[in-house]
Amino acid sequence: MALRLGALAPASPFILSPMEGVSDAAFRRLCWEQGAGFTWTEMIRARGIVRNNKSTLELVDSFDPEVPTGVQLFVVNEEELTAALARIEALADTTHPHFRNVTAVDLNFGCPSPEVIRVGAGPALLKRRAKLRAIFEALRAWKETTSLPIGAVGAKIRLGLNRMELDQKVYLPIIELANDTLDYLVVHARHARQQSADKPTWSAIAEVKARARIPVIGNGDVFSPADWERLRRETGADGAMIARGAIRSPWIFRALTGRGPGEPTRAELDAAQAGYDALATRLGSKEKFRAWHREGFRRMRARLEGQPEAGEAMPHNEHMA
Ligand SMILES: Cc1cc2nc3c(=O)[nH]c(=O)nc-3n(C[C@H](O)[C@H](O)[C@H](O)COP(=O)(O)O)c2cc1C
Repeated sequence: MALRLGALAPASPFILSPMEGVSDAAFRRLCWEQGAGFTWTEMIRARGIVRNNKSTLELVDSFDPEVPTGVQLFVVNEEELTAALARIEALADTTHPHFRNVTAVDLNFGCPSPEVIRVGAGPALLKRRAKLRAIFEALRAWKETTSLPIGAVGAKIRLGLNRMELDQKVYLPIIELANDTLDYLVVHARHARQQSADKPTWSAIAEVKARARIPVIGNGDVFSPADWERLRRETGADGAMIARGAIRSPWIFRALTGRGPGEPTRAELDAAQAGYDALATRLGSKEKFRAWHREGFRRMRARLEGQPEAGEAMPHNEHMA
């Protein structure tokens, strides 16, 4: 069955992950052109929006009305969330009309960065059920009254802060809360101490799905159509969120949607890089994104030219920890 996210009907069930330093508007377009059904900005600190921090606001780079785009926020509590959403709405009506292109809001409960956990945000909130409920309800209430064209609100979780929380299955009560308030839940099947090289626990996605009345999107180690088939079979997930697979090759979405190979030809790669550069320039993408993708395209090219080692490893990012 086709994936639905609230009122949104993505063209495919394959969602581009929010990725810090990676997911700028030009990269989102490239992935969408290859078949991604929905895309997200990198995670954005709600407090920076409330404080009108210029460089935080620049991360809401939803300039491209064609590419379905949501904003991912991380928050410490429901007051901060409500204030940030009100600010987004006010700016959409005045100085930032492109905020009207945002059609979904996601909350991050997965970032393992010590700075995020220290302020009590991200995965630190997973076991705080009353707080989570208040945050989910604030998001729902805003969705019901906002003048922005928001089709879906949801959250992306990990399986816990650490192994103990995973064993306690702190992720299970979250779907009960989400069933009543959110339009979907993304489950990244690792706890926050796990590295991306660690095997995800997909069985937890199946446990969540078994209790879900909303779509569940599985995340973790989907690199090929065969992985997606297995994820769907083993967990019943309604869709897959893809991060490193898309960094490795945005054409993964072409393969997942059955429209062609997961690797580009040389000509496709050249055209995509030129397209990325032109759009990133036109939209004023920050240098951190442009530098990341220069390196990404270089690695893809090295792979096509038969230098697998140069093409396989990935630049480091703290989210991979
Ligand atoms: C470079 C990079 C940046 C990331 N930034 C974010 C982020 O901003 N928000 C988020 O929820 N997850 C972020 N993640 C985690 C991914 O969304 C995803 O959950 C994780 O990589 C597992 O998916 P994968 O196996 O397809 O890579 C990031 C991952 C990477 C590799």
